[in-house]
Amino acid sequence: MGVYLDNAATSFPKPESVHEAVDWFSREVGASSGRGAYRSALRADGVMFEARAALARLFSVSDPSRIIFTSGATESLNLAIFGLLSPGDHVVCTGLEHNAVWRPLKALHRRGHIDMSVADHNPDGTLCAKSVRSLLREDTRMVAVNHASNVLGTIMPVREIAALARERDVPVLLDAAQTAGCLPIDVRELGVSLLAFTGHKSLLGPQGTGGLYIGEEVSLRPVRYGGTGSESAREDLPDVLPDRFEVGTANGPGIAGLAAGVGYVLERGVDEIAREESRLTEYLMQRLAAFDDVQVYGPSESALRAPVVSFNVSWARPEELAFALDDAHGIMVRAGLHCAPTSHRLMGTLDRGALRVSFGPCNDREDVERLIDALEEMREEFT
Ligand code: ALA
Repeated sequence: MGVYLDNAATSFPKPESVHEAVDWFSREVGASSGRGAYRSALRADGVMFEARAALARLFSVSDPSRIIFTSGATESLNLAIFGLLSPGDHVVCTGLEHNAVWRPLKALHRRGHIDMSVADHNPDGTLCAKSVRSLLREDTRMVAVNHASNVLGTIMPVREIAALARERDVPVLLDAAQTAGCLPIDVRELGVSLLAFTGHKSLLGPQGTGGLYIGEEVSLRPVRYGGTGSESAREDLPDVLPDRFEVGTANGPGIAGLAAGVGYVLERGVDEIAREESRLTEYLMQRLAAFDDVQVYGPSESALRAPVVSFNVSWARPEELAFALDDAHGIMVRAGLHCAPTSHRLMGTLDRGALRVSFGPCNDREDVERLIDALEEMREEFT
């Protein structure tokens, strides 16, 4: 097998238990959750219940029914943004948002529905929480924060930002697509009201899974309507969570796999995963620092980053390099803009993009060494 270093796009490989859970659900359960009283339908309900409970444990959520399953962070962020904001509202966001936040906000902005302010960052993506304070206004209804940039890796000072927002009763929406499962998240301790996460990255679940935690203090309008298997005679959606926001047939096999992925993360421990991935990140940054023709973006301290390192070399374009790394060395990395033009604007790489390496729990130092050896070999060939 090659060396997979694109875990920020999607994690690979998944733990064996994830494959087993997907297979078990598809073969042995099969039924729709919330739609029947026969035994296999009740087993499907049990899978949903267990998955919600595991996620609640991971994020220190006291009421698991406040975790809504979605198809991923993008759907969760759309629900939070379109479900909370009304015409005339103002939103503050960071300058490192992924398009999953940036595009919904810009869509509302272009329609003239909302006004938005974007926080200023230092060139390495770090942000002083106080700079957010000056952007808060009387009509601010949301602060949207990317927990960590998927390009620079920079971790945002979420706790401090949320404390400032709370002084004005403004809810914080945290985009944890890049961090759920690889950095500790405690919604109470961080003080966030909405937490959007994906299942297929550091939670190690299948693609097409994810969710949104909705704090008691926020009231969202549903953005999707349909059958919930409950209160079916009502014309409007049930008030009770999670039913209000979970319409249509659930992704049973995916959620079974997600529960197994979260189980793996809980057993190994997020702190331990974070420590190991941080060591690899630091090791890669040390090795890249020895190249005088490589520019590494983002904070120099690995403690300030998620396990993501983006860089450029002076002798090849990022997409040429990514292609050659895979073709000649079986090393998989992502080149381009990573669906995050705001980060590339800050890095000054909007025109050429960058090469990104991102670690997961299955990587080790040998993977870094193979990448460095490959880069050295390619430099000989390209120059
Ligand atoms: N947001 C994902 C990435 O960074 C897809 O690659």
